[in-house]
Amino acid sequence: MRSEKRFESKHVLITGGARGIGFEIARQFAMEAAVLSIIDFNAKTLSQSTKELGRIAPEVYPYLLDVSRRQQVNEAIAAAEKIHPIDVLINNAGIAFETPFLNIEEEEWRKILDINLSGMFYVAQAVCRFMARRKKGVVVNMGSKNGLDGEFGYAHYNTSKAGVIMLTKTMSLELAHLGIRVNAVCPGYIQTPMSMEIDPPEFTQDFVNRYIPMNRAGNVAEIAPLFLFLASDESSFITGQILIADGGQLAGQKPGEALLNKIKIG
Ligand SMILES: NC(=O)c1ccc[n+]([C@@H]2O[C@H](COP(=O)([O-])OP(=O)(O)OC[C@H]3O[C@@H](n4cnc5c(N)ncnc54)[C@H](O)[C@@H]3O)[C@@H](O)[C@H]2O)c1
Repeated sequence: MRSEKRFESKHVLITGGARGIGFEIARQFAMEAAVLSIIDFNAKTLSQSTKELGRIAPEVYPYLLDVSRRQQVNEAIAAAEKIHPIDVLINNAGIAFETPFLNIEEEEWRKILDINLSGMFYVAQAVCRFMARRKKGVVVNMGSKNGLDGEFGYAHYNTSKAGVIMLTKTMSLELAHLGIRVNAVCPGYIQTPMSMEIDPPEFTQDFVNRYIPMNRAGNVAEIAPLFLFLASDESSFITGQILIADGGQLAGQKPGEALLNKIKIG
């Protein structure tokens, strides 16, 4: 953990910040003295995480709402802006279900697209309208390796994350001259409450063995710093980019034992 405080007195708004990767991002911003606004639709985890973050961050403001409800989003962003102008938006909230393409019901399709893509758009537009007036701001969107490369059983999720990547690129083009940078992080397989709810441990082990060259899933502490980097002045000339952290999964086909045994070391 860095000892410097890159975000002292900066107001950072994080969606889906009550658990998983979003909570770890919030915790790492809190360690660097950011003022936090956390949006989440789970009342219990939002209240617990607000308490926990309150022990580290100078100020924490919870907002209980669903990012796919545009009116609720607009009201929360206006309220958060009144407290402190928002410097950084971390657009992280998302859901996933595993359902084969032929079996996806319309309701499930809509729910994933409404939250992962439309919800991201609602929050980003509401925040960027304020940032544009100040000609200053940073947005980091949560993509996924699945937005770049498909995965069985996730047609709706993969599609939503592909949309996140194009939303990120287009936002960056339209907002650069207004002093707003927009980038996305695309994690591969990360151990979080979400992935553990979907996949039993034996599935995770099999998936890792088959597909991930680093032979393991990632953890939240390895993903959060990428958001802080893209939100910081260290990335001041980076916009419209996709930062992939997937243990090598997208580098190419994972070589099997027979191929790896051909490597002669020293
Ligand atoms: N876990 C992974 O392997 C992985 C990989 C790549 C990308 N991601 C993405 O990272 C993000 C976080 O995933 P996670 O694994 O930490 O999941 P998680 O379920 O552990 O945490 C997600 C948080 O977002 C909140 N949330 C979900 N929908 C919301 C809504 N409509 N409005 C407000 N809050 C909402 C949840 O209540 C929860 O607190 C998601 O966008 C996910 O798609 C996860």
